[in-house]
Amino acid sequence: MSTTRLTIRRPDDWHVHFRDNDMLRAVAPCTARHFGRAIVMPNIVPPVTTTALAAAYRQRILDAIHEAMPGDSRFEPYMTLYLTESTTREEIVRAAASGFIKAVKLFPAGATTNSENGVRDMDKVMPVFEQMVASGLPLSVHGEVADAEVDIFDREAVFIDRVLDPLRKRLPELRIILEHVTSAVAVDYVQSAGHNLAATITPHHLVLTRNAMLAGGFRPHYYCLPVAKRAEDRSAVRKAAVSGDARFFFGSDSAPHPRQAKECAKGSGGIFNAPTALSCLAGVFEQEGKLEHLESFVALNGPAFYNQPAATDRITLFRQEQPLEFPHRIPTADGPVTVFDPGFPLHWQVEDHGEPE
Ligand code: DOR
Ligand code: ZN
Repeated sequence: MSTTRLTIRRPDDWHVHFRDNDMLRAVAPCTARHFGRAIVMPNIVPPVTTTALAAAYRQRILDAIHEAMPGDSRFEPYMTLYLTESTTREEIVRAAASGFIKAVKLFPAGATTNSENGVRDMDKVMPVFEQMVASGLPLSVHGEVADAEVDIFDREAVFIDRVLDPLRKRLPELRIILEHVTSAVAVDYVQSAGHNLAATITPHHLVLTRNAMLAGGFRPHYYCLPVAKRAEDRSAVRKAAVSGDARFFFGSDSAPHPRQAKECAKGSGGIFNAPTALSCLAGVFEQEGKLEHLESFVALNGPAFYNQPAATDRITLFRQEQPLEFPHRIPTADGPVTVFDPGFPLHWQVEDHGEPE
């Protein structure tokens, strides 16, 4: 008989965008409902460039979740620092000492949403990377070049070649998370690297190809960065995710934008998937015949790479013939935000309350 219930350690999300203010209040509870911890990206306005800004942002996140889920203090946001060419070694020392900052995020300037304050010249941030090694903070990387000359479908591969590989050769001790890998090239690169390199994988890159976004009409709600690629790439990403290989783990890259920022002449990249992420992942692992590896992907590999304990509480997923009905958009003060629809029926859903150990 096929599996219909699956109890696993409570998953964490190792890459999420919560935004701020009203949007934060609308989206953060969707993550906190299912996940134990989440690495929160710092590309808000203004960006989270200091430990003090991260502390204040963390408090706003906790307040937003507390407001939506009073009496539930289980969720823990892990913060990140936005790397600029002016970040100092002292700031890294402070960030590491804070205990709540778990990574520093590298956005190549111009590569994605609110990345203008990111890095143009890697030489300028080498001293900061050296301090991160000394302080034990890993580097979380948006792995795309922002070079206008480089085709958007090649930007991940070119980043690995021009930026990531040279950096790893210069500073092999630096622990790096290559975020949201989308290509066979990236998967191969991570698999062939030794220790100190891991990668996150999103639900949408397990499901979409560029055809889903572009063929037969442009679907802006499937537009994200890095953009989804060919079927061969998706297949490589899927294989890595379900393989049980400890270097690959879940990061949703859930990135809400209100409708007017998606359905317009110059739409923003980002897919809001927090409400459907776990159902979608369970569906993909089931399709691949690898449900037994879901727990390592969502709950064990991430904490191991980040040197954090695995969760001690558990959640149960159950399978129903009748697919999950989910809201296709959520209302926010800035306008409706579309929820990621993977395009196949979501038979798996999360039981409302985790079971005690
Ligand atoms: O699709 C994306 N959206 N990719 C990113 O790298 C950033 C994110 C956002 O912040 O909207
Ligand atoms: Zn992201």
